[in-house]
Amino acid sequence: MTASSAGAFISFEGGDGAGKSTQIKLLADAIRDAGREVVTTREPGGSPGAEAIRKLLLEGSADKWSPVTEALLMSAARADHLERIIQPALARGAVVITDRFADSTMAYQGLAGALGEKTVIALYDLVVGNRGPDLTLILDLPIEEGLKRAGATGGQEQRFESKGAAYQEKVREAFLEIARREPDRCFVVDASGSAEKVAARIRNIVEKKLPALFNA
Ligand code: TYD
Repeated sequence: MTASSAGAFISFEGGDGAGKSTQIKLLADAIRDAGREVVTTREPGGSPGAEAIRKLLLEGSADKWSPVTEALLMSAARADHLERIIQPALARGAVVITDRFADSTMAYQGLAGALGEKTVIALYDLVVGNRGPDLTLILDLPIEEGLKRAGATGGQEQRFESKGAAYQEKVREAFLEIARREPDRCFVVDASGSAEKVAARIRNIVEKKLPALFNA
């Protein structure tokens, strides 16, 4: 396999309403235009089994699950997603772009939530190990703006949005902390401004970090 046809694994992270889905679509289109297969997916979910778990996780009241049960469900979904979607796609040389991955568990459950880092790390070692992303883009936005955008999309999946502004602020801080810890993998992207402007910031990072994606 040549370097340019090796698979690549990219995750997008950030608070609710940071514009991840729009940016994922724009990046996926750009990489496809360069001649690569791109698989876009999301967490929790991404495979049929994990999507069933997603429903359990995102609907209902904020205190529906205990912190440990919540993290176990996220991890079970992630194991299925990795086995059935992500790993097979990478093995055939595709570029996988996921809307959230394990950093969300560290941010929401571990650092901002009540679970603590140690348990999250143990679950990571069990489920992900060395199969994590090559590149993680953390879309950063003031929480008032993010909640406004997330509220506008509505729907039934409001369990995490309903946890309140103080929690969302902690989540934002948690992602910035994760980026400080892993500067080789994680890049913070200013998510304010037009979609085109944010897309250009992202494209810049991806071209530097994974140049082979645009030189197929
Ligand atoms: P989603 O609809 O993907 O929201 P967003 O548009 O903000 O990405 O819902 C996912 C929610 O689940 C989001 O609030 C973050 C939360 N979550 C966790 O708490 N832990 C996790 O490990 C993952 C993957 C998501």
